Amino acid sequence: MKIFLDTANLESIKMYNDMGLLDGITTNPSLLSKEGGDPHKTMEEIVQIIKGDVSLEVVATDYDGMIEEGRRLHKYGENVVVKCPMTAEGLKACKTLTAEGIPVNITLVFSPNQAILAAKAGAKYVSPFIGRLDDIGEDGMNLIKQIKQIFSNYNFGTQILVASIRHPIHIVDAATIGADVVTLPPAVLAKMLKHQLTDIGLKNFLADWEKLRVEDPNIRI
Ligand code: E4P
Repeated sequence: MKIFLDTANLESIKMYNDMGLLDGITTNPSLLSKEGGDPHKTMEEIVQIIKGDVSLEVVATDYDGMIEEGRRLHKYGENVVVKCPMTAEGLKACKTLTAEGIPVNITLVFSPNQAILAAKAGAKYVSPFIGRLDDIGEDGMNLIKQIKQIFSNYNFGTQILVASIRHPIHIVDAATIGADVVTLPPAVLAKMLKHQLTDIGLKNFLADWEKLRVEDPNIRI
């Protein structure tokens, strides 16, 4: 399973990239807006830092506008994946950009039928937003199960990118189902690496070490 970071925050991106954890990045206009500054510069910098796929979203809603923006975004780097919304115009733009060799991530997917259409239009990634479904009382993870089953039935090449993740259990469930990618807010990735027993265990190991007497006090171990 690939791990993407769902953010436009350069500090978090650098930090987790230095740990070797990141296979890619997803951004959206809201995430860029949260960081402020010039979004073009931020997007360009992200693409330079990350070797894997970086999803950058169009803001046009018509076909011509999405094509123009998609082509421009892809000039930032070969690893740019153009994020188009799950609309009729978005699917048409997906087909054209894909044919030009520009990969597309279809975003704002909330049903299995939408996922089927995104795959048929040639999307590299389909992004079901599970947290937002949970928020309205639906079962977001069930959507991932359904899409996984459907894509396996027909050997669709489109990758399932689980988005709108809210907590670490979502990641375990997505991995158990066999989703291709999870995109995580930095706060969720931080929780993923922590366990209280790790902290207690480390504290005790160090305390026990301090009880020992070493011959050369200049060498700790
Ligand atoms: C994915 O590509 C989206 O940027 C993101 O996961 C949306 O998450 P949210 O529902 O927390 O805004």
